[in-house]
Amino acid sequence: MGKPVKKQRPINLNLRTIRFPITAVASILHRISGVVMFIAIGILLWILGVSLASPSGFIQASCMMDHLLMKFLFWAILTACAYHTLAGIRHILMDFGYLEETLKLGNATAIITFSLTVVLSMLAGVFLW
Ligand code: HEM
Repeated sequence: MGKPVKKQRPINLNLRTIRFPITAVASILHRISGVVMFIAIGILLWILGVSLASPSGFIQASCMMDHLLMKFLFWAILTACAYHTLAGIRHILMDFGYLEETLKLGNATAIITFSLTVVLSMLAGVFLW
């Protein structure tokens, strides 16, 4: 028979003291960026529709794109797209066995994914502004 379960077990309900491992953060951000991209499809198709509807619609869409909020939205979409693609490639490389599934490599590739996303995100900013 195993040991009886201790009734006075330590519990931690203070979420601010819990630190997620970097691989968990990478995974959560992959899901969030996937959802952001899914929502983005609707926004992008809507703007495409406006711009293709008529010559004045094209000018209207161009004016919308000049707005700071719109630029910020596009920057966020491009950043989510960059992250999701890079994290997706990391995932696929692991799934196909090209990257060893060890904690060390998982941490290292998560940091590489974040770093490359920062670079691509800055390039997206340069492209938009
Ligand atoms: C418009 C394009 C895309 C959308 C809307 C999208 C959306 C999503 C969503 C919602 C998930 C689920 C995440 C989860 O359950 O944790 C997912 C997973 C995934 N996506 Fe994408 N994705 C897109 C493009 C891509 C691209 C271009 C790649 C590859 C380079 C990719 C690779 C993956 C992989 C490998 C997973 C599985 C992750 C896992 O098993 O945890 N996706 N995607």
